[in-house]
Amino acid sequence: MPSRTYSLPILLLFLIAFQLGTLQAQQVSPPHLEKRGAATQLIVNGKPFLILGGEVHNSSSSSLAYMKPIWPKLHAMGLNTVFTPLSWEQIEPREGQFDFSLVDGLIQQARAAHEHIVFLWLASWKNGMSSYAPVWVKENTERFPRVVEFGRKVEILSPLGQATEEADAHAFAALMNHIKQVDGHEHTVLMMQVENEVGVRGDSRDHSPAANAAFHGEVPARLMAYLQAHRATLNHSLRELWDANGDKTSGTWTQVFGNTQRTDEIFMAWQYARYTQAVAAAGKAEYNIPMYVNVWLRGETTPPGQYPSGCAEPRVMDVWKAAGSSIDIYAPDLYAPNFIQWSRRFHRRGNPLFMAETRGRAAGAANVFYALGEKAGISFSPFGIESEASDTDPLAASYHILGEIEPLLLAHQSAGDVHGFVLDRGHSTVDFTMNGYTLHVSLENSFGRQAKAGFGLIMAMGKNEFLGAGKGFMVRFTQRPESSPQVGIAKVIEGKYENDKWNPGRRLNGDEDDQGAHWQFPPNGERIERITLYHYGK
Ligand code: DGJ
Repeated sequence: MPSRTYSLPILLLFLIAFQLGTLQAQQVSPPHLEKRGAATQLIVNGKPFLILGGEVHNSSSSSLAYMKPIWPKLHAMGLNTVFTPLSWEQIEPREGQFDFSLVDGLIQQARAAHEHIVFLWLASWKNGMSSYAPVWVKENTERFPRVVEFGRKVEILSPLGQATEEADAHAFAALMNHIKQVDGHEHTVLMMQVENEVGVRGDSRDHSPAANAAFHGEVPARLMAYLQAHRATLNHSLRELWDANGDKTSGTWTQVFGNTQRTDEIFMAWQYARYTQAVAAAGKAEYNIPMYVNVWLRGETTPPGQYPSGCAEPRVMDVWKAAGSSIDIYAPDLYAPNFIQWSRRFHRRGNPLFMAETRGRAAGAANVFYALGEKAGISFSPFGIESEASDTDPLAASYHILGEIEPLLLAHQSAGDVHGFVLDRGHSTVDFTMNGYTLHVSLENSFGRQAKAGFGLIMAMGKNEFLGAGKGFMVRFTQRPESSPQVGIAKVIEGKYENDKWNPGRRLNGDEDDQGAHWQFPPNGERIERITLYHYGK
């Protein structure tokens, strides 16, 4: 066969194109958070990314063989990201000897299944306990001191252990360095969770010698300075406590915050925050991708210690923020039934909503619309996802619909013209204003049969045009002031987004929308529809 020859100009062109490609790959920054318009978004390979995720059970990802069949099932369910635990004990089984074969294997499996990963660093703490620390850490209670409760050491590493903090940070830095080597150009790994549900369990604070000495000392100047500088935006309950104790600018913990368990909680929040921020900072120094902590939520009247005392619960989140800025997001593990109230508490200035763990199935299928639509959430991730991995799971239907409209939803999160909602018989209506219209959203009620539940989101697509997605709801439009012309439905079209392109299906101007009286989404299946409005006489 004659060999092909190229002229010099063509070779030069090849060379330039190749170098440009390499340069471009190098220039794409690692996953990061960016404020885009009304929303803070996760940017991956230069574009906003919405995490339609799920977290596998704690032990699943400790075995590649166990995980292998799970990835494709989760992909079929519509997940684009799997929250995947990684334990310190498996990464550093002997001090200074790292084994990254599991990390590499999980990344390869994720890529083969077209999935992304959020890794969970289960290290010094998991659900407040220290069960995932390596044995060489667990055994050496002199070097790696324990929390003391009621005069006894417990199986919780003390956050005041300097050597423990350094060892954890060292291991995490090694892990992040490795992830950068194997994934720094591909970005399969999007984010890191640092530790898991930290906080002291069993008592409201650590009573180890180091903890007692710190507790009887002064509140660190850094924390006092932060409280003063951020007084206007502090969590109201923290501010009330500070005010009630004389609004001091220095003093011991009990002088500044009073002699109650609330002070123990604030003290522990500072200790865990300092430690966790230091671990995160060491990791970020190697590879700077977004990092978050997940929070075990307290019951309204539960005392600290019965939930992990010192976790980044909203009333001490400011204490965590005062300790550093290496943790980007404080994320709820939201299993409580009052999903909307808890979402509101975590979605505050400087803290985008990131649903680290939550319920899946029917509850998750509905709540994901509120989290991502109403609260411009970055992530949704039901726990134990492989137990429900089936493409007939209700969450799968929501994820498929949201996957279709992902780029649109991200654009509208940023523009601030999207609303999401969850309705049931106890909360059957909600009103929104968009594009000069009031949208009266209620449980679907065609032919006198009210749906039991409904959920969805609505985006403003143009002056008189909206897109809706979900099921079990209906919408009536009015315009203010009252003297405005009446609003009618010009047309409703169902359809699908395929490769980001609207592919229209049936026109639904008959029974499906009560002959133009309402825009209706029946309860028997999720759908996407676009509606155009028109005006007629008063
Ligand atoms: C929250 C924890 O973060 C998870 O690791 C797991 O233990 C779940 N609770 C179990 O419900």
